[in-house]
Amino acid sequence: MEQKNKVVIFDTTLRDGEQSPGASMNTAEKLRIATQLELLGVDVIEAGFPAASKGDFVAVEAIARKLKKCQVAGLCRASEDDITLAWDAIKDAAFPRIHTFIATSDIHLKYKLKMTREEVLENAVNAVRYAASLTPNVEFSAEDGSRSDPDFLCKVFEAVIDAGATTVNLPDTVGYAVPEEFAALVTHVLKNTPNIDRAVLSVHCHNDLGLATANTLAAIRAGARQAEVTVNGIGERAGNTSLEEVVMSLGTRPNFFNEMTSIDTTRIYPTSRLVSMITGIMIQPNRAIVGANAFAHEAGIHQDGMLKNPMTYEIMKPETVGVNKNSLVLGKHSGRHALYAHISEKGYNLSEEELNIVFEKFKHLADRKKSILDEDIDALVNEGVLRG
Ligand code: KIV
Ligand code: ZN
Repeated sequence: MEQKNKVVIFDTTLRDGEQSPGASMNTAEKLRIATQLELLGVDVIEAGFPAASKGDFVAVEAIARKLKKCQVAGLCRASEDDITLAWDAIKDAAFPRIHTFIATSDIHLKYKLKMTREEVLENAVNAVRYAASLTPNVEFSAEDGSRSDPDFLCKVFEAVIDAGATTVNLPDTVGYAVPEEFAALVTHVLKNTPNIDRAVLSVHCHNDLGLATANTLAAIRAGARQAEVTVNGIGERAGNTSLEEVVMSLGTRPNFFNEMTSIDTTRIYPTSRLVSMITGIMIQPNRAIVGANAFAHEAGIHQDGMLKNPMTYEIMKPETVGVNKNSLVLGKHSGRHALYAHISEKGYNLSEEELNIVFEKFKHLADRKKSILDEDIDALVNEGVLRG
């Protein structure tokens, strides 16, 4: 059997995701999500933008100190001060990554940066060289890459790889690209950046035209090997590529894609609920994979087909993404063990002390409510664990 190519999953829920209007999170909430993302199996967590605020710095530092398996990235502009601050925040991580960026499109150069292409190139190289003097794990992003001159983009990537970048990221910052065009740009970069084999080519797509996942998948087919994503697709404006859509597309169509990820897909649904609860951003019912209706079959013909063979109308089993349709219903007669089993079945990993807090809250709720639903358990866990 042909060996599958691994796609690095770089999760930016805590950075670009937090840029969704109204989604700001405190350190305890970010730590809770970061811990869940590590369990989910993401390769890199972008924990924040340490120069953005004192709160961001503290949260990034706390996450860097806590996680043991994931790489932890801190975002910074291409300036020595920003990079120093990002490094201070992540330096205690088991696997720190500095992620520095500067725009490369003429429109950003002219109106935002007021810099020439030569100045941007020099700035990018100096920033990466400085970052690489602090850690061997350096990512460089060419902001607005999809609207940049492709040859200038390759020139910048070549120079920053020579300066020490180990990942080069091509963002569709404003969600303007369409799949064939974006795939062609990835192919162009792979062909015309002479030293690209010394770095991982990454993509980072925004969803302004609803094409973020399609663009990311097209880029992966063309050879990109890192996908930047967020849980539930939250992020700046219309959001980012959603983690669950990319991971489940690769997993559900293994004959079409020759790429795989390290994600434990059974933790997708609990992670999605946790992020929704903490950020307060609701999940629309018809949302792919994690929406309440994603596995609901309403039409009689569909229900009949499902009873005869679920494969008639279901392209993935709900259990594969952690939706347990047959989970036992809990009520006031349910004991501690039933609750604990249910909580771990949902993918939460709580300490003994946290479980006791949640059990107390569960008993109070069960006195008032006949049956406790999945959503109630999510709310209890998050209330119990985050607010004590
Ligand atoms: O959208 C974007 O260009 C970004 C970069 C900082 C990677 O978020
Ligand atoms: Zn972005």
